Formats: sequence, C-alpha cells, structure tokens
Amino acid sequence: MSRAFFTLLMASIVAMVAPDMLINPDFENGINGWHSDGFTMSTDNTHVKHGVASVKCSGRTKKDQGPSQFVTLKPGGRYTFNGFIKLANDHGYQDVHVTVELRHSSGPNEYIRVSNHEHMSAADDWVHVGGNFIVPNNHAISQARVYVEGPLPSVDFYFDNAAMSELVVDPNWKTDANSRIEANRKSNIHLNFHVASNFNVNDLKVKIDLTKHLFGFGTLIRSDYMIGSSHQHYKDVLSYMFNWAVVQDYKWKFNNGTLTHPDYTRAVAATEELHRLGLNVRGHCMFWANPEKEPPSVRALSGQDLKHAVDERIRFMTSITKGKLSHWDVYNEDLHFHMYEEHTGDYGYIQHMFRTVHAADPTPLLFLNDYNIVAQGSYTLAYLSQIQKLKAANVGLGGVGIQSHYKDFTEPDLTLVKHRLDVLNIAGLPLWITELDLSSHDENAKADGYENVIRLYFSHPGVHGVLLWGFWDDYMNASRALANGNSITLNKAGQRFVQLTKHEWSTHVNRSLSTGTSFSVRGFQGDYDVVVLYHDKPIKRQTFTLGKGDLTVDVNISGTGQQITVPVQRYPF
Ligand SMILES: *[C@@H]1O[C@H](CO)[C@@H](O)[C@H](O)[C@H]1NC(C)=O
Ligand SMILES: *[C@@H]1O[C@H](CO)[C@@H](O)[C@H](O)[C@H]1NC(C)=O
Ligand SMILES: *[C@@H]1O[C@H](CO)[C@@H](O)[C@H](O)[C@H]1NC(C)=O
Ligand SMILES: *[C@@H]1O[C@H](CO)[C@@H](O)[C@H](O)[C@H]1NC(C)=O
Repeated sequence: MSRAFFTLLMASIVAMVAPDMLINPDFENGINGWHSDGFTMSTDNTHVKHGVASVKCSGRTKKDQGPSQFVTLKPGGRYTFNGFIKLANDHGYQDVHVTVELRHSSGPNEYIRVSNHEHMSAADDWVHVGGNFIVPNNHAISQARVYVEGPLPSVDFYFDNAAMSELVVDPNWKTDANSRIEANRKSNIHLNFHVASNFNVNDLKVKIDLTKHLFGFGTLIRSDYMIGSSHQHYKDVLSYMFNWAVVQDYKWKFNNGTLTHPDYTRAVAATEELHRLGLNVRGHCMFWANPEKEPPSVRALSGQDLKHAVDERIRFMTSITKGKLSHWDVYNEDLHFHMYEEHTGDYGYIQHMFRTVHAADPTPLLFLNDYNIVAQGSYTLAYLSQIQKLKAANVGLGGVGIQSHYKDFTEPDLTLVKHRLDVLNIAGLPLWITELDLSSHDENAKADGYENVIRLYFSHPGVHGVLLWGFWDDYMNASRALANGNSITLNKAGQRFVQLTKHEWSTHVNRSLSTGTSFSVRGFQGDYDVVVLYHDKPIKRQTFTLGKGDLTVDVNISGTGQQITVPVQRYPF
C-alpha cells in the first residue's frame, strides 16, 4: 500500500476518536510548541515526511534527548501518539522510543513507555513510530510531557508529522461488537428441499446444525497426552471445544535427538492425532529470536555455521510436517530479541527464513508471532512496520500472530485492544490471536474477562481465530485456566466459553417442511449438517460449508424413507 494511503488510514483511525492534542504537530510553524533540553532543534526542508518542513535534532549529548511537548493528560485517560522519524546517520542499529513523563505535586516522576522500535538505521528512511497507553489514575498529574528518544547522541535524526489524541471509551462497545459479529461472522443459507411425491411434507422435519466454526477457536495442547489411549477424556474435550490446536513441541529446544539427527516424533504423532480429532494444527515454532529459548548448541553458533544449521532445520522440519500443519510460526518474538540477526550479522536474515520455509512447503500459512501487541501497545506500530516490510519483500508471510497474554489480574482494556487491532489490520493480512490467557482472583470476573475480549476478537473483521494458551490447569496456571482438576471440569470461564461458541455464536434450526420447502437461515460460518427426519426418524444427512458469501443448498428427499444413523456430537463433561 502506498505511504499516502497508509497515512490516510492511520489518520482516519485517529480521527474517529478525537482531535489532535499537539501544537504544531507537523513542524510547519517552525519549532513552535516543541521543547529541546540541551540539544539543537532546527526545521529542515530537505528531509520532509509531510508538508514542507520537519525538525532536525542534533548536538544531543544523551540518548533520552529528543523533541518534546507538554500535553494535558487525564488520570485514567487513554491516548495515542505517533509520528515519523528518520535517522540522519548511522552508528550501529538504534532503538527509538516514545516516552511520557508524568510529574506529580509530590513523589517521583513516572515514565510511561509509549512505544518501542528497535533495529533502526538510516536506510529505513522514514519510520512510523508511536503507540498508545493508559494513564494511571492513582494520583493527580501536575505536568505531562511526551518525547521521542533513544538513538545514541552521535546519531542525528529528523522527526515529522506527529499526532496525538485521546482514545474515547465506547460505552456501546458490546452492541457494536455484536453488530460486527452479525455482519462478519454470518452468511445467508437458502435451503430448497425437493420432496419426492411419495412423501407428505407434514411428515417431514429438518434439522440444520453448525458442526464446526470457520473462525478458529483453539488451544495449546499437551502433546504427550495425544499419544496412546490413556487420555481419551482430554481428547474428547479438545474435539468438543476446539477446531484448532497449537503444538509447541516443534520448538527447537523440544528436539529429542541431536542437532544433526533431530527427533520430533512426539510433535508429529500429536499433530496426526489432532487431525483425527478434527482439529487444524499450528506448529510453534521454527525459530525463536530469544537466545535463552533456543538450545545451547544453537545459541553457541554464529556466521555460516548458524546459517547452515538454520537451513538444515528448515529442510528437516518441513520434511516431517509437510501436509500436516495449517500454520507455521516461523520467527517468534523478533520485535523483542534478535538472536539470528545478531549471530549472522544480517538484519535482513528474517527474509531468508521465510523464503526458505515457504519454498520447502508452500502450504502452511507462515507467521510472525509477538507480544506487547494488543495486551500492551508499545510494540503495535513497530509490529505493523515489520509486517509491512516483510509483506512488501514477498517472502511468504501469510499471517500475523498476536500472543495476547494479559498481565496478571488485570482486565483487558477493550478500547485500547480494539484500537491496536485496527492499527494492525492496516497490513491487510489475517490476524490470529495465538496465545490468549488472562487471570483473575474471582471466577466470575475471569469469565467476564475472557468473554469480553473473545467477543471483541470474534467481532473484528481482521481476526481469523482465537487460540488460548492452554485451558486446563493441568498445563497452565490455575488463575488463568478455564477447566480444573483430573476430570477436566469447566469452571465459570470454561462454561462461558462453551456458552459463546456452542450457543450464542452457533446455529441450530429445527423446522417442519409443512410450513414450506424453501426458506432462508442466517447462520454462523462453518460446516453444517442437514438431517431430514421422516416421522421423527432420520432418513437423510447432507453436509455443506458456509463461507463468507451466501449459499444455496438443495436437498433432495427421495427413496423409501429408510432410517439412517447420524453422528452425534457427545457433550464430554
Ligand atoms: C525421547 O526419546 C526416548 C528414546 O527414544 C524416548 O524414550 C522418549 O519417549 C522420547 N521423548 C519424547 C518427548 O519424544
Ligand atoms: C500462578 O500465578 C500466580 C500469579 O502470578 C503466582 O503467584 C503463582 O505462583 C502461580 N502458580 C504457579 C503454580 O506457577
Ligand atoms: C431440535 O430437535 C432435537 C430433537 O430432534 C432437539 O434435541 C434439539 O434441541 C432441537 N433444537 C432446537 C434448536 O430446537
Ligand atoms: C436432486 O435431484 C435432481 C434431479 O432428480 C438432480 O439433478 C440434482 O443433482 C439432485 N441434487 C442433489 C443435491 O442431490
């Protein structure tokens, strides 16, 4: 997408919320409104992002120096700040931050990290930086200042086209989410039953049931429980509650062989069992940018040795998973760590990873996967930039993984989460919530927390699935779990999840054909069963898949009315 269109989109997201809070945000009026503390700010007309001028920052002596502006912030208020930065010269890769400093009438200053953007160089040209945040509401603010900082003092930079606005809480968020769900998650089914003359319509009934959501509802699973027959109840629960599963035993550190003779027997066996249970599988993960999370033997490699090991791993992993995975997390947490870039000395190395995986197995959707993207907002824009860059490089990036681990005992802030999803959706790639969990001291509050955030995700047109980071306290902290104990008993949050996915967001229609043999149903998207009952006994079953568009389904009712057996989905609890 062109930068102009992109800027327009960003502007429209911001414009929907509130007017700009900054004075002279575009530096068209000199440096009026902006402050510099111990360095030089001068307007520049040769490096301009928007309008005819930007500001150049030079002569800095500390990393935390950059253009700043005093703003009026309300305790408890939510704000977004963004602007464009361009480094004038290089001195290695730079980290750029936006920070808010809060002064109080007493006590120390507070600092809010609004955004993080790592690995920047002059070659990046203009980079969109910024983020969004909530102001703590524990004490009054005597003064607030937002500023750009981070590059080494020896690196000068230009800054331009800033914007800051308040994000207003939508009191009707739930009604709005429900309207989006109605519009985005349902389609029309036009059913025509063609009844042979030996049947009387008064004796015929039909049942139309959604059997599997098109939208992904999934969880991280325990691979060891997928092997053998001793965990049948766990398998029954998985296949009842979910249509997607994450297998994390593909991580390099889960290799049960050696570096040169890897063994992922368990991950592959678990994947195959999950397929038998009717679940799609997400492979997690090919590479992890955090060196602490990779095996010591890999962490120790650099240069050609590491590049060779990477290529060998891609070759091996794609050979054992070919045709089995729907998603591959190719590079995990690269916004926060940079092991492969640092150890190869190549900051474009991620492109090689994606290109090579994609060439070896073009079927699975390939993902980035990262955190502080919607649960916090400091990396949202950095992620968007990374996604856009990788998408433009055309190396096979297929989807955007958003981990979504919420901070202990805090409820998701739906206003900020919605805004962050809107920002990421600018990239135009499928968004997947890949590691959702949240905790509460109170079971009802936890159920509400899960319900609210899943409702928001399900409603968002850019989101294609929500995968939980586990659901059972056997494999996760009980304060985050949706089910507990040996018998996998649903708690309030688990019951709520089932209520939403199996009832509120599911479609089940019973109808007698005496009232008409053609009719329409607006149903949730996914796989359906139509069963025809003759004198209340099933005589015919037909399946269809309802996608994003409307569908016409013809069902012929003929033959002698012989009873058939139909599969029943068993409630496993
Ligand atoms: C690892 O390999 C050993 C020896 O073959 C086997 O006994 C064990 O079950 C394997 N573990 C996993 C996690 O695959
Ligand atoms: C579960 O999470 C809580 C809150 O972070 C923590 O205090 C507790 O130690 C955790 N329990 C386990 C078993 O890790
Ligand atoms: C449809 O009828 C079946 C019995 O055939 C019943 O179990 C089910 O609850 C009914 N569904 C609805 C939506 O009424
Ligand atoms: C229904 O029957 C008609 C003719 O008897 C046939 O052309 C049509 O393909 C059948 N449709 C289905 C869905 O079986």
